[in-house]
Amino acid sequence: MTVLGTPLTRDATRLLLLGSGELGKEVAIEAQRLGVEVIAVDRYKDAPAHQVAHRSYVIDMRDPKAVRDVITRERPDFVVPELEAIATETLMEIENEGLAEVIPTARGAFLTMNREGIRRLAAEELKIPTSRYAFAGSLEELQDAAAMVGFPCVVKPVMSSSGKGQSVATDEAGLVAAWHEAQKKSRVKLARVIVESFIEFQYEITLLTVRAAGPEGAIETHFCEPIGHRQERGDYVESWQPQPMSEKALYRAREMAEKVTAALGGRGIFGCEFFVNEDQVWFSEVSPRPHDTGLVTLASQYQSEFELHVRAILGLPVSTELIRPGASAVIYGNQDTTGVRFGAVDQALRVPGTKLRLFGKPESFVRRRMGVALGVASDIDTARRRAQECAGLVQVLAPGLSLETDADPEAEVPVSASRPVRVPDVT
Ligand SMILES: Nc1ncnc2c1ncn2[C@@H]1O[C@H](COP(=O)(O)OP(=O)(O)OP(=O)(O)O)[C@@H](O)[C@H]1O
Ligand SMILES: [Mg+2]
Repeated sequence: MTVLGTPLTRDATRLLLLGSGELGKEVAIEAQRLGVEVIAVDRYKDAPAHQVAHRSYVIDMRDPKAVRDVITRERPDFVVPELEAIATETLMEIENEGLAEVIPTARGAFLTMNREGIRRLAAEELKIPTSRYAFAGSLEELQDAAAMVGFPCVVKPVMSSSGKGQSVATDEAGLVAAWHEAQKKSRVKLARVIVESFIEFQYEITLLTVRAAGPEGAIETHFCEPIGHRQERGDYVESWQPQPMSEKALYRAREMAEKVTAALGGRGIFGCEFFVNEDQVWFSEVSPRPHDTGLVTLASQYQSEFELHVRAILGLPVSTELIRPGASAVIYGNQDTTGVRFGAVDQALRVPGTKLRLFGKPESFVRRRMGVALGVASDIDTARRRAQECAGLVQVLAPGLSLETDADPEAEVPVSASRPVRVPDVT
């Protein structure tokens, strides 16, 4: 039986988010709807989830002592990681001491923090098909590794996300450049890298997989409809759901997702990423938390990935049912500044079947995701077009410029508008 308390009382059910970005913000909102007390933690002030939490903290989440201090001070029931760069060894201790439940498990957070942990688990222990791969800790090792894997290959720091420090090498010279790129963007000094064979896939998917308790308490695995997405420089720019797939490919992806998520254990949502070519499926990676490409589910599913996560965490029943085809399109900051404003929001939302999420990030960077447009329709292509059009109409304005109030018509020109992107055909 799940019992939920009243927030801000002794019996409150407390959820502590480690990471308070746009995904954490939606998790916080879903938890708030059920009267869960939310504590949001991030490395900077006024992060998106801070703005919708009961309490918030600014700490270095890679610092074991800082993570332990906030958990012992707040005594949450659930510690919910929202990103990878966390002192996961501290989470293991917290779990062992029975201080809080770590979602999905401390080991799950630990293994997925590092590409080496999850790749070896999937490929070597679970025998799941992946790209060919090898690891390297120096340029010489990388050259040997690439000789094994072959060209073209993809080089990625083992500790990185959103495509940071990642590049494709087609020859020896490219490999040297890839090594330096990985070192430049790495979170640690001498970055270990994974080198993967480049997979010529037709499309790639995120298969959101939920591990939740059934009526008898045993964990059941549920799958959302596959999400197709398009990446630029290793960062997602557009996603849609459902991605049409052959029955065989879908079956294979589900089978692999079930295996990997079962090995990580616990409850919650997992974003399992796959590359697909006809009936052939390669496992790429998994994150034990809501996935950025899954923002589309805010419009396309009865229960978004965020609601599914919160329900699974709390031991509540889940439904992964799709309402209708949907799409999401990213709105970038397009400029380095603080306190941007969003112009033409009304025009953007006149596009039928659309919604917007503006994340409220205090600081904007050219390539920082500041919002997302969501579109629904009776078919995927229309949903994608609507989301793209809506995102393209939103103007990201520097502080101090206003479309409506500036008398000088020259001043009405926004510093930068997020440009509509041509929508390629879904393959
Ligand atoms: N071996 C590969 N072959 C072909 N394309 C690849 C390969 N590895 C990565 N990619 C492309 O780069 C994208 C990002 O790679 P990956 O998911 O491993 O990195 P990431 O930094 O963890 O990204 P994110 O955190 O946004 O999921 C993939 O979605 C895919 O489009
Ligand atoms: Mg990825």
